[in-house]
Amino acid sequence: MCQIILTSFCPFISSHLSGKLSVDENVQTYRDLEEKYSSFFGPESGGHWKPKDCLPQSKVAIIVPYRDRDVHLRLFLNHMHEFLRKQLIEYAIYIIEEVPMIPFNRAILMNIGYKEAIKDNDWDCFVFHDVDLVPEDDRNLYHCPYYPRHMSSNVNTFGYVLPYKEILGGVTAISKEHFEKVNGFSNSYFGWGGEDDDFAERVLLHNLKIIRYPDYISRYFMLAHKKDVPSKQRFNLLESAKKRFKTDGLNSLQYRIESKVYQRLFSWILVSFDYPIKID
Ligand code: BGC
Ligand code: MN
Repeated sequence: MCQIILTSFCPFISSHLSGKLSVDENVQTYRDLEEKYSSFFGPESGGHWKPKDCLPQSKVAIIVPYRDRDVHLRLFLNHMHEFLRKQLIEYAIYIIEEVPMIPFNRAILMNIGYKEAIKDNDWDCFVFHDVDLVPEDDRNLYHCPYYPRHMSSNVNTFGYVLPYKEILGGVTAISKEHFEKVNGFSNSYFGWGGEDDDFAERVLLHNLKIIRYPDYISRYFMLAHKKDVPSKQRFNLLESAKKRFKTDGLNSLQYRIESKVYQRLFSWILVSFDYPIKID
């Protein structure tokens, strides 16, 4: 006799959610964090988890551009693993680190994260996530609705107010289909700023809307850091955003993997890429 095992879908809104969260700002060692989460993640699981007793409704790759933010990363991992597990989704955390000495390019790192993550699993949803932002309410569901969602619309450092209507920085959820459709992020933005505005332009040019949760849900706490110097060239680049999106993005991405390690709490990928000689 063959036995048929029926497993049902996980609820869209998990019963583990509690609403408003506090942020634990105690910095733990990696060893303590690994110990704390050892019953959920194997030593080489790459921070990949899925519910055991139900079929997850979303498969979400969390892509984190990273360099030189060790304390933030530890606070982020501690907060996010607790937060994401309660939502009963399948997810993994990818830390895409840029090598030192070359200008930081957040957007290239996110494109690389996307390309590398799809080699591992059939993710249907991507959440591009700054390492210094943590959600303050677990009703902020990490999945991808039809339209791209700007998740971090109410951040403490902006007084929990949306700074401007088209902002799409910080934390953004987008389906695989739409990320491919808009050709990912532009690879041209070196230094701080503009790459998220360029991405918003791409999204809107493809007749997609930017949606958001109500302001009491999309609240984020920004971990303290010194503000980077904004890049001057971002304004010129933004002016040509419409002309570039077809040729500057996923389809023109070039990079080198320097190292890739599936650690217990995250998949770590160290990357490098070429950059123009003159950047302001
Ligand atoms: C920059 C964006 C940034 C936003 C909020 C804008 O001026 O171009 O990249 O996300 O400010 O800080
Ligand atoms: Mn920041």
